[in-house]
Amino acid sequence: MNRVKAFDTIAILDFGSQYTQLIARRVREFKVFSEILPHDIKASDLLDRNPRGIILSGGPASVRFDKSPICDSGIFNLGIPVLGICYGMQLMSKLLGGKVHGARAREYGYAQLKIKSRNLLLGGIKSGTQVWMSHGDEVRRMPKGFKRIADTQNSSIASIADEAKGFYGVQFHPEVVHTAEGKKILKNFLFKICAAKSGWTMKSFIEDTVNAVRKEVGRDKLILGLSGGVDSSVLAVLLNKALKKNLTCIFVNNGLLRKDEAKRVINTFKKHYRMNLKYVDATAVFLKNLKGITDPEKKRKIIGREFIRVFEKAAKKLGGVKFLGQGTLYPDLIESRSSFGGPSVTIKTHHNVGGLPEKMKMRLVEPFKYLFKDEVRLVGRELKLPDDIIYRQPFPGPGLAVRIIGKITRDRLSILREADAIIIDEIKTAGLYRKIWQSFGVLLPIKTVGVMGDERTYENVIAIRTVKSLDGMTADWVRLPAELIAKISNRIINEVRGVNRVVYDVSSKPPSTIEWE
Ligand code: XMP
Repeated sequence: MNRVKAFDTIAILDFGSQYTQLIARRVREFKVFSEILPHDIKASDLLDRNPRGIILSGGPASVRFDKSPICDSGIFNLGIPVLGICYGMQLMSKLLGGKVHGARAREYGYAQLKIKSRNLLLGGIKSGTQVWMSHGDEVRRMPKGFKRIADTQNSSIASIADEAKGFYGVQFHPEVVHTAEGKKILKNFLFKICAAKSGWTMKSFIEDTVNAVRKEVGRDKLILGLSGGVDSSVLAVLLNKALKKNLTCIFVNNGLLRKDEAKRVINTFKKHYRMNLKYVDATAVFLKNLKGITDPEKKRKIIGREFIRVFEKAAKKLGGVKFLGQGTLYPDLIESRSSFGGPSVTIKTHHNVGGLPEKMKMRLVEPFKYLFKDEVRLVGRELKLPDDIIYRQPFPGPGLAVRIIGKITRDRLSILREADAIIIDEIKTAGLYRKIWQSFGVLLPIKTVGVMGDERTYENVIAIRTVKSLDGMTADWVRLPAELIAKISNRIINEVRGVNRVVYDVSSKPPSTIEWE
């Protein structure tokens, strides 16, 4: 599906900074659409996208070295304002004839910005305001036409401007929260320098997407794999608005779901939204294939393969389906095409429906491919989905299989399901569910001795895992109140048959991972 073009756009050229996505989000917070593009996009291609302004991101490289990433210097002849941030400012300076050197003193952390001359970018910003620095190089000589507009104790050229051309550079990072007035600086760039109009709202996104999907799919059929998670649920409601009976959602119960999950999905989507929902209970075949398997990667591969098989079969049954909906998000897209970073080794093979379209020869419809997760939640709110779905904690595709260490059996699934439901219930009751990234139980492959009444027991161990995180890439364990841990532990041992011990996981990621497998 095509990009949304009806809005003013800011192009962000990505030089590999860990903050590039943050820049994009900050711009969108002002209701101006932003898109992250490869740093070496040709000037003519950039012009085709008709951006109101260009932001050059920071990056880990040094412009002093030959192999460092550069942009097409033609972008400075397009008549479009440019803001260079950190590496972006140094690169702009170098390409336009300035000089960049290794800094005498590396600057990392807070600095005070002294404003040296009035200008649009720093308009309304207090001199002495706190900014966040992270650089080893500095601009020593500015290109012709530029003037210095601010300095800090260690950077005599902390911010530069060629006002006639609309070119600005900042050595610090306006996009991070540590830069006290960073938002105001970005706002100045968007509205005072680029004269962008803000119109990018979730309401307009929904209208636009509904029209675009109708146009693309026409009277054909589209299928969507519904998992009950945030992305596929919001997508289902959005596509239902556009396509009604031409949308079929397929919900595969792989037997590895949490307690009452299948019932909940059917109730919400079939009964409440009256969607075309095909429910496929494939528990038996999944469990048969997983019988005796203990290796986590093998479990994932089997589940991924079986999911595709079941999904394909259900799609074939419908017949004549030309389109496949997918809840791909913007970070997935950026990561898959980024020239920098991205995990180089497989830590865990993540299972999703990404392998489906090539084999099935269907055209992909991915309305969220330019959205961040929190924007999908806003779409969900605009579409009036229940909070219970919008703020659902992430749940892995392979489900409880990666939370049952060792063999997967119906009995072990049932033990974990009951324990997990107690954990979620107590976390919700304590008002912590939405503050925590994930909270769940893990069933360990050992038994330990206990005593219940006068009897010796020899039963299972459940670990409680609760983590806080922003994106699942790094995480820290949550310091739950001891009384809450005690309550959860008591309830699990008393209420779940087959468990006589509960432990609390106190490991962060890295070096551990969130899931145990
Ligand atoms: P880890 O365990 O790698 O998890 O620290 C990071 C995040 O990813 C989720 N996760 C998965 N999601 N398929 C998924 O769809 C998977 O195979 C998978 N493994 C982990 C995990 O729940 C956490 O949010």
